[in-house]
Amino acid sequence: MLVVDLGAQYAQLIARRVREAHVYSEIVPRSITALEIRERNPIGVILSGGPASVYADDAYEIDEEILALGVPILGICYGHQVIAHSLGGTVAKTGTAEYGRTEMVGTGAGVLLDGLPEHQSVWMSHGDSVTTAPDGFTVTASTEGSPVAAMENRSAGIFGVQYHPEVAHTPRGDEVFKHFLYEACQAPPSWTRHSIIEESLAAVRSQIGDSQVICGLSGGVDSSVAAALVHAAVGDQLTCIFVDHGLLRAGEGVQVEETFRRHFDINLIHVKAQDRFLDALAGVTDPEAKRKIIGELFIRVFEEIAAEISDAQFLVQGTLYPDVIESGTGTAAKIKTHHNVGGLPDDMVFDLVEPLRDLFKDEVRAVGEELGLPAEIVWRQPFPGPGLAVRIIGDVTLERLEILRAADTIVVDEIRKAGLYGEIWQSFGVLPAIRSVGVQGDERTYAYPLIVRAVMSEDAMTADWARLPYDVMEAISSRVMNEVPGINRVAYDISSKPPSTIEWE
Ligand code: XMP
Repeated sequence: MLVVDLGAQYAQLIARRVREAHVYSEIVPRSITALEIRERNPIGVILSGGPASVYADDAYEIDEEILALGVPILGICYGHQVIAHSLGGTVAKTGTAEYGRTEMVGTGAGVLLDGLPEHQSVWMSHGDSVTTAPDGFTVTASTEGSPVAAMENRSAGIFGVQYHPEVAHTPRGDEVFKHFLYEACQAPPSWTRHSIIEESLAAVRSQIGDSQVICGLSGGVDSSVAAALVHAAVGDQLTCIFVDHGLLRAGEGVQVEETFRRHFDINLIHVKAQDRFLDALAGVTDPEAKRKIIGELFIRVFEEIAAEISDAQFLVQGTLYPDVIESGTGTAAKIKTHHNVGGLPDDMVFDLVEPLRDLFKDEVRAVGEELGLPAEIVWRQPFPGPGLAVRIIGDVTLERLEILRAADTIVVDEIRKAGLYGEIWQSFGVLPAIRSVGVQGDERTYAYPLIVRAVMSEDAMTADWARLPYDVMEAISSRVMNEVPGINRVAYDISSKPPSTIEWE
């Protein structure tokens, strides 16, 4: 299924819904021509929603020949208006813009809304409305502001809905996609985690052949799933390099090593480089300087090891489909690795193996589960590359790392016990560079506070502080102060992003 992008945020969501209905979908730019679509031979085309009006000077246009290809088409919101406008219907300002939950009344006719209730709640977001459908179309639903809220021309295979079936606020939106996919397009529901893996394995095998391949493993979900997939494809031809900078959370290095060595019997080089990193960081307090030092040293260590495996021709990378869409570029066959493992030098050139580049994050997780990665890795909250160094304000010393590791473990443990780990985007401890006075066992203490940070977010671009229940905060506070020497106060960070950021540095 091709999803023509007439407004990026909607297009991604539509592509995901289509895949959730087990049909493979790809997003294509609105400049795509009818000829290009024909060459790709899709099972159907969806025209996404978008911010424009069909009458705007800079209105997004499509090649109208697309509508004459004989390929089933579904227009959503702006896409619906484009269809109406192109085929001789009327799009007008009715004076009733609709935003948000809207009551829609169906006629009971047609394929798209088949079996759905006569009255249903749908999510709208539009100014203009289709007031008359083009010739040959049947109107199958309307709302107060949209006389033609849904329409279809079954024999031409063209369908349109003014509302957004892709958003969660349209409760029965998934059925609209299923009707379009299974009835109108006759698409088999064959895109499953099993088929994703089968296709990836075949693609990786044919790309790599008998060559050697290396993969930088971080313990995060993307690099872990990419490594597991490539290992399933080419076994011992893969060597993973896990540069452990010693700035990971408690037990993390061991867990990554155990998972890959024992579980997958993978060639793994675990480079324990904590001393090198701590030496390089000694006395450095400026956040950007810390990041730069860690980034550069990371590359140097990776490069040293990679050079030892001198016959490796390929490098695995965990690029995901949203990165591909956002970069807006086609596939570049030979790319220097330096955007990727964080800036490898220009003279180190590998062919990239990107087994996840067609997948959304939820599909990556499903593949990870299917390949047997443990839930701790598959469902792990994001963790920054520079690790705890950006959560220890000021000097990063072994002593302060150990204090933060112990306290952070308690934070995550209590959040897990409360059943909140999966709902919260990130939850962790921060160790600031101040100390304050406390009293413990009749003794005066002068120790660090722990800042607890827990945020809710969709994509890390914006975030809000999590409203943790008081009893969870209390459990964290009392355990941290009882169990972690060096901390005598616990504070909760109630800053949103913006104006703060999620990490403290
Ligand atoms: P901020 O602090 O900018 O973080 O709100 C946004 C998200 O990015 C993560 N983060 C990083 N991830 N390397 C990474 O791989 C980094 O250097 C890095 N810095 C921040 C952060 O944890 C949050 O999820």
